Amino acid sequence: MEEFKPVKEGKVREIYDIGDALIMVATDRISAFDVILKNKVVSKGKVLTQMSRFWFDYTKDIIPNHMLSTDTKDMPAFFQTPAFEGRSMLCKKLTMIPIECIVRGYITGSGWASYQKNGTVCGITLPAGLKECDKLPEPIYTPSTKAEIGDHDENISFERSIEVLEKAFPGHGEEYAKKIRDATIALYKKCADYALSRGIIIADTKFEFGLNEKGEVVLGDEMLTPDSSRFWPLEGYEPGHGQPSFDKQFVRDWLKANPDSDYNLPADVIDKTIAKYKEAYKLLTGSDLAE
Ligand SMILES: Nc1ncnc2c1ncn2[C@@H]1O[C@H](COP(=O)(O)OP(=O)(O)O)[C@@H](O)[C@H]1O
Ligand SMILES: [Mg+2]
Repeated sequence: MEEFKPVKEGKVREIYDIGDALIMVATDRISAFDVILKNKVVSKGKVLTQMSRFWFDYTKDIIPNHMLSTDTKDMPAFFQTPAFEGRSMLCKKLTMIPIECIVRGYITGSGWASYQKNGTVCGITLPAGLKECDKLPEPIYTPSTKAEIGDHDENISFERSIEVLEKAFPGHGEEYAKKIRDATIALYKKCADYALSRGIIIADTKFEFGLNEKGEVVLGDEMLTPDSSRFWPLEGYEPGHGQPSFDKQFVRDWLKANPDSDYNLPADVIDKTIAKYKEAYKLLTGSDLAE
């Protein structure tokens, strides 16, 4: 049997290259405050992969995506083990477009910090008088460029995104910049409206797109997971202060209260966190996670 080694190990995901396709595997690792915790959140990786699968299916009429299968039977024999089942996605290999497509429906985080300074977020002027975590009148597209390892991603204007893409794909800068902006807004609107109806606010998120062999723009990476987005519970939502994170609040609260823990969390905090991931999955998809 052919064995495979990940070509890339991210904080949470491992990527395998099987030739004409990739296999993205979401592990049970969890990060908080940019640090990987010592604990594993059992099943978190399955939740993330199955959530992406749900959203890719839900939005394939808006734009095609890279998902080929989440069934390990469609993957090489090496992957047909319980260690990979449920958490692996076979994906079409794309030429990635080097822009992080961020969309914000609510004002929080770095956007809130910038708005307080000068009333803008990434060069976009917003109405006066917004409170922290307020809903924006319309979602805004705030692209950034992927930083080299260690650096922070750099926010750029839409105009600058055209220049970056013109350099990467001569003759196509404006076309691709517009396509990924319009797709980002359309995807966010459809999915955030749906999530809201199920009790989850998707405050903001990030998409990545690539080109297939025909040069068409295709949605890649992960989609609308708590790792690529801010999920807030609708219940108790109140602008004017920060909101609890749907999935990581127990972890963050405990870490703040226990600064000397060395990122080793007690079992009950981990259990409550697992329950939150499964709850989010059930709210969004209407089904229990298959295990
Ligand atoms: N279909 C695809 N084809 C090729 N590369 C992809 C595809 N989907 C996502 N990627 C890339 O795979 C990588 C996933 O890495 P990830 O674990 O998210 O770490 P990071 O975001 O820190 O680079 C990213 O570089 C992403 O752009
Ligand atoms: Mg990533």
